[in-house]
Amino acid sequence: MKSIIYSNRHIYNLLMRLSYHTGYTDRLERVSELVENGSAVLDVCCGPCNLFPLLARKGISYRGLDLNTTFVRDAKRRGIEAQTFDFLSENLPEGQFDYIIMLSSLYQFIPRDKEMVSRMLAATKSYVIISEPIANLIDRLPKILSKILGKLKNPGNGPTPFCFNDTTLTQLMGRFEKNQVRTFYIKGMKEKVYLLKKD
Ligand SMILES: C[S@@+](CC[C@H](N)C(=O)[O-])C[C@H]1O[C@@H](n2cnc3c(N)ncnc32)[C@H](O)[C@@H]1O
Repeated sequence: MKSIIYSNRHIYNLLMRLSYHTGYTDRLERVSELVENGSAVLDVCCGPCNLFPLLARKGISYRGLDLNTTFVRDAKRRGIEAQTFDFLSENLPEGQFDYIIMLSSLYQFIPRDKEMVSRMLAATKSYVIISEPIANLIDRLPKILSKILGKLKNPGNGPTPFCFNDTTLTQLMGRFEKNQVRTFYIKGMKEKVYLLKKD
C-alpha cells in the first residue's frame, strides 16, 4: 500500500520542504535553468509536478509521468499534462522530448539504476537531467517523523529501501562520463545534479 508521503500533494510538499529546507526550491530553480526556453520536457517520476510552474514560465512544454494515480489525477485537475506510467514495465516515448528529467527518484530503481539512465538517454532527443539525493532525506526529518515515515517509504509498488551517497552516485554516473556536460550540488549538498547529453 502507498505510504502517507505519496497520498497527498500537500503532505508530500510539506515533508520535502522539511527535509530539504531551502534546498528544495534551489533544486527546482537550478534544474529549470538548465532547460532551454521553448523546449519539450518529459518529467519521469514527476510526483506532484513541482517543476511544472518554473518550466511553464519559460514557454517549455511539459509532460509528467508517474506511477501514483493520486498525483497524476491531481496534476490533471490543475491543467498539467500528466499520465500514469510504470517505468519498471513501460517504455518511454522515444524522440519526442528535448529533455528527459528525473528528480529525486533514481534510488527507487536500484539495482536497475544504470538501465534506467540508459533508457532515458536512448529515449531523449538531446538531454537527460538527473537530480538525486546523496543521503537518505527521511533521516533528516525530525526524529519522530523519520521513524514513522522511514517504515512507510512506499510509492505504491513496494518499499524502496536503497539510497545513493556521493560515492555510489558518482560511481554510477562515471559509467556515463562521456555524456556528462555539467554536474553540481544543490544548496545544502543534499542532492547532486547531472546534465547528460545524448551520444
Ligand atoms: C521522491 S518522489 C519524487 C517526485 C518528484 N520527482 C519530485 O522531485 O518531487 C518519487 C516519485 O517516483 C514515483 N515512482 C516510484 N516508482 C515508480 C515507477 N516504477 N514508475 C513511475 N513512477 C514511479 C513515485 O510515485 C513518486 O511520485
